[in-house]
Amino acid sequence: MNLRLLFVSFVFFAIGAAAAVAVLSNRLGPPSATVIKVEGKAAVGGNFSLTDQTGRRITQDDFAGRHMLVFFGFTSCPDVCPIALQTVTQAIDLLGERGALVTPIFISIDPERDTVEQLATYVDQFHPRMVGLTGSEQEIKAVTKAYRAYYQRVADESSSEDYAMDHTSIIYLMDDRGEYAAHFAFNTSAEEMARRVGAILEAAPGGPST
Ligand code: NI
Repeated sequence: MNLRLLFVSFVFFAIGAAAAVAVLSNRLGPPSATVIKVEGKAAVGGNFSLTDQTGRRITQDDFAGRHMLVFFGFTSCPDVCPIALQTVTQAIDLLGERGALVTPIFISIDPERDTVEQLATYVDQFHPRMVGLTGSEQEIKAVTKAYRAYYQRVADESSSEDYAMDHTSIIYLMDDRGEYAAHFAFNTSAEEMARRVGAILEAAPGGPST
């Protein structure tokens, strides 16, 4: 192992991570905790109407009584999406029985390429209970607006794909009433995510049911 190369890679990774976090916190706007305190109600999230990886129509009501870890991305994403979804998968596993109270949800912001079939193959690589959602352009626009998530098609000359998607890479934790509870950077460790989700499950009305 070339130590100098390792060090250079680490520095680049650290700078990249810091920049990502800075960009993401700007994109989400003011700290949500403040918003929640002022308005007494979550300003992030809301009902949605989408299609899952089996072709079934799904709304937020289908997850009533469950917490949701929600991530927006696209299946041909080379790095950020797989890292985030792998972390979500590991965090739910680390929660043990309590993990059953949390549904991992992947919402495509690239509905043109992410068909129901494509989503089915993709989410299969992660948590066995992961729900993949796609929809019409209008439906994706509506759900990303509700979650204040950003996405944009960008030219991708470095790969064989016609285009890539630039997108918000935070993971949202929504509570059992579908309201915003917390958010995580995509590169949060699975241990940290499990610890924070576990604490929120404990604090939820009625506490964990297991
Ligand atoms: Ni991505």
